[in-house]
Amino acid sequence: MLYSSQRMVMYPHLNAAGILFGGQALSWIDEEAIIFAAQLLDTQRLATVKMSEVYFKTPANIGDIVVIGTELIKTGQTSITVRCEIKNKTTDKIIVSVDEIVIVALDYNKKPTKHILADRNKIYENSTQENS
Ligand SMILES: CC(C)(COP(=O)(O)OP(=O)(O)OC[C@H]1O[C@@H](n2cnc3c(N)ncnc32)[C@H](O)[C@@H]1OP(=O)(O)O)[C@@H](O)C(=O)NCCC(=O)NCCS
Repeated sequence: MLYSSQRMVMYPHLNAAGILFGGQALSWIDEEAIIFAAQLLDTQRLATVKMSEVYFKTPANIGDIVVIGTELIKTGQTSITVRCEIKNKTTDKIIVSVDEIVIVALDYNKKPTKHILADRNKIYENSTQENS
């Protein structure tokens, strides 16, 4: 898991109970997953098509510094699947995790298009066939 962003929980990020608002946490996660995909796929034309179950494990409070991590789970033809979590930097506890975020590469008409990792497995398969 690559932890590349940090945030401090401030008043605008809180819900009515005075803890980090879930919608805010999901916004940070969605943005982080898209930035991760943009770097990996070398394009900014991307859209999140699906988020799996979201688990809010521990609350975050005002002044907490949190770190946001991403990792690649799966590579498809037009999509990649990413796992994402937010951890409390002070306590090291997981605040929220999303096991699968599916991000799709788009063409100029906003339709799915093959990304640069699409045929990586095929190339590997071909090279092993040639070598055998
Ligand atoms: C993203 C979008 C263009 C995909 O269009 P689509 O017609 O569903 O595309 P496809 O059926 O060709 O699927 C494209 C890829 O997404 C994957 N996908 C689509 N729906 C999925 C789902 N519900 N779960 C998992 N993967 C899914 C497909 O498996 C495919 O991946 P692959 O090529 O790597 O195998 C369209 O759904 C869309 O515009 N959605 C709105 C996106 C959005 O506004 N997001 C919020 C803001 S970022």
